[in-house]
Amino acid sequence: MAISTVGVVGAGQMGAGIAQVAAATGRSVILQDIASEFVERGMATIHGSLEKFVAKGKLPAGEADAIEGRITPSVEQGALAKADIVIEAIIEDQSLKEGLFATLGKLCPPGTILASNTSSISITELGKASGRPTEFIGMHFMNPVPLMELVEVIRGRETSDATCATVMALAREMGKTPVEANDFPGFVANRILLPMLNEACFALMEGVAEAEAIDTVMKLGMNHPMGPLALADYIGLDTCLSIMEVLHSGFDDDKYRPCPLLREKVEAGHLGRKSGRGFYEY
Ligand code: CAA
Repeated sequence: MAISTVGVVGAGQMGAGIAQVAAATGRSVILQDIASEFVERGMATIHGSLEKFVAKGKLPAGEADAIEGRITPSVEQGALAKADIVIEAIIEDQSLKEGLFATLGKLCPPGTILASNTSSISITELGKASGRPTEFIGMHFMNPVPLMELVEVIRGRETSDATCATVMALAREMGKTPVEANDFPGFVANRILLPMLNEACFALMEGVAEAEAIDTVMKLGMNHPMGPLALADYIGLDTCLSIMEVLHSGFDDDKYRPCPLLREKVEAGHLGRKSGRGFYEY
C-alpha cells in the first residue's frame, strides 16, 4: 500500500525522532500528543536534532526547514484519520496502548496500518485490541532515532504479508535497516539488552563497584558507546522497569526479576535524563 502521510502518536523522544525520520522521506507527518506543551517539546527536539545535522554539514539548512515544514503538530486525535500509517510511541503501559489502538481502529479508515513502537509488549494482543490485527505490526525504533540504524519489525500472529512488506519498505526509506523478529516478550533487542542493564543495577546495589566504574568497564572493556547505567538513564528508568516487568511476567522466570534499586529509583521519580536524575545527575 502507498504511504503518503504518516501519523505519530506521542511526541516524546521516540515519537519526535520517528516523526523526523518519516518527514525526511518526503512524506507529510502528523505528530499528535494530548497536550500542546508535549507537541511543542517534540517539535523543539526535532529542531535541535536537525540543527546538529546542519551544523555538521550532513544536511543542507533548506532541507532541514523542509523536513520541519512537513510535520504538523496536533493535539487532536481526529487529525490522525488522514494518515496511511499511524505509529504509536506513548509510554510503555499495555492498557493505555490497548485503549489508544481501540480508538484508532475505529477512527482510521480501513486499510490504514497501525504500528506500535512498543519495546516489549505483545503485538498480537495490541493488534487484537485495535480490531484490525492483519494491519497491525510492531515497528520498534532505537533511541536516538535519527542516529540509530535498526528498526525491529515484529509481526503479530495475524499480521499480513502485505502489512509487513509495506512497513519494511517504509523503514528502509527512513534510512533504517529493518530486522524481523517474532512476537516474544522483549522481542530480540530488549530481551538481550535489558537483562544486561538490570544486572548492572544489581552490581551497583550489591556494591561490586561504583556507577562510573561499572560504566567504564563496559565502555573500555567491551567497546560499548555508553555504559549500561548511563544507557538506562538515557532510555528512562521507568521504561527499563516496564520492560523488565514484561520479561519477568511473560517468561515467568526469576532470571528477569527487576533489580530493587531500579524499582526504588522509579518510585522516587528519579527516571534518568528526562527527570534530571537517575543513576547520574543531569
Ligand atoms: N540527532 C542528531 N545528532 C545527534 C543526536 C540526535 N538526536 N544525538 C546525538 N547526536 C550527535 C552529536 O551531535 C554528536 O555529533 P559529533 O560527533 O559530530 O559531535 C554525535 O551524535 C555523538 O553524540 P555525543 O558526542 O553527544 O555522544 P556519543 O558519542 O556518546 O554518541 C550516542 C551518542 C549516538 C547516543 C552513542 O552514545 C550511542 O550510540 N549510545 C548507545 C545508544 C543505544 O544503545 N541506543 C539503543 C537504546 S535501546 C532502545 O532505544 C530500545 C528500547 O526499546 C529501550
